[in-house]
Amino acid sequence: MKPRLSHYAVREALRQIKDPVTGRNLEDGGFIRQLEIDRASVRVLVTLMGASPAAAEEVENQIRESLEKIEGVEEIRAEVRILPAQTGPELPQAGGPQVGSQAAPAWAGRIEEIRHVIAVASGKGGVGKSTVAANLAIALAGQGRSVGLLDADIYGPSQQMMMGGGQPLADESGKIYPVETDWGVKVISLGHIIEADQPVIWRGPLLMKALEQFFSDVVWGKLDELIVDLPPGTGDVAITLCQNVPMTGAVIVTTPQDVALIDARKGLAMFTKMDVPVLGIIENMSFYECPSCHHVEYIFGRGGGEKSAKELGVPYLGGVPIDPAIVSGGDAGKPIVVEKPDSAAAKAFEELASQIIQQIA
Ligand SMILES: Nc1ncnc2c1ncn2[C@@H]1O[C@H](COP(=O)(O)OP(=O)(O)OP(=O)(O)O)[C@@H](O)[C@H]1O
Ligand SMILES: [Mg+2]
Repeated sequence: MKPRLSHYAVREALRQIKDPVTGRNLEDGGFIRQLEIDRASVRVLVTLMGASPAAAEEVENQIRESLEKIEGVEEIRAEVRILPAQTGPELPQAGGPQVGSQAAPAWAGRIEEIRHVIAVASGKGGVGKSTVAANLAIALAGQGRSVGLLDADIYGPSQQMMMGGGQPLADESGKIYPVETDWGVKVISLGHIIEADQPVIWRGPLLMKALEQFFSDVVWGKLDELIVDLPPGTGDVAITLCQNVPMTGAVIVTTPQDVALIDARKGLAMFTKMDVPVLGIIENMSFYECPSCHHVEYIFGRGGGEKSAKELGVPYLGGVPIDPAIVSGGDAGKPIVVEKPDSAAAKAFEELASQIIQQIA
């Protein structure tokens, strides 16, 4: 079998090429308008503002040369279009979140360039929200989207550990640049900013201020999706975010137990009250398949997530099996989607990413 063409390698290749006008790279500067990766073929459309035709042609050649070097690439279609400088950058498409007139300016700050804000929530703790958020973000990036991941669990941040990576950079004007992971996802977590072993002693207002800064001061650039990893339950963070940030929708993570239905219902009620559409329910820890005999055990019961979704009248997006590699990968900063891409769990996350793209389309 041929090796699967790596989306990360494609994005990395595009990151090596600079816009001749601003000097920013194509990937992070938001110059990529379309990127389709299908088996051995890559199709990329780039728009450059105010570039000369010769410079645009040079960029087109560089894209081809850079993509040719990737293992598994057989067909490349690269197109560079020039936008006249005075037309300004292309704005997010209609249907993306609009900054509401009631949104406080501080929150509104830098999110105009984000097309979809998607919250990952749960009625109760420990069901795997952060795991789902991290793997979904990577899977979406792998499908050619520009993705950010915001750890809004200010009381117990975990994405700095799950996604690994270094420190965010800040400049004198107070702008914060998210950490860029190897998998093309931009991440920011309070865990990046506070010391690892320091207890989270900041309380309420201070923490909420930190959350606000994530929206006002973090330079996300153009994103297709910003995945927001929420704290468990329906507390202050979820409510504040729903009030201040134009959310495209929320996904609710649950485990298959019967009690999970009650929790999922609470989560759903909160989002409905806040006018945030629920994109669907994800069932985590659905089953365990014995690696040697392939016997499947429904440890936490069977079909709870699907049943909840049906009863609540929202889509069932799919289930993710139990895999010990999820725990080790999460602890090591290498989510399973990149660590064991052929595992059933990784494939489940890929499928969930496709489902979510369909839901928001
Ligand atoms: N499908 C899975 N298989 C095995 N372990 C999993 C799975 N999903 C999550 N875990 C593990 O369960 C633990 C809790 O997961 P995670 O931190 O993602 O949950 P959470 O809902 O974000 O928790 P919290 O409510 O504390 O924020 C972690 O150790 C994680 O590695
Ligand atoms: Mg969490």
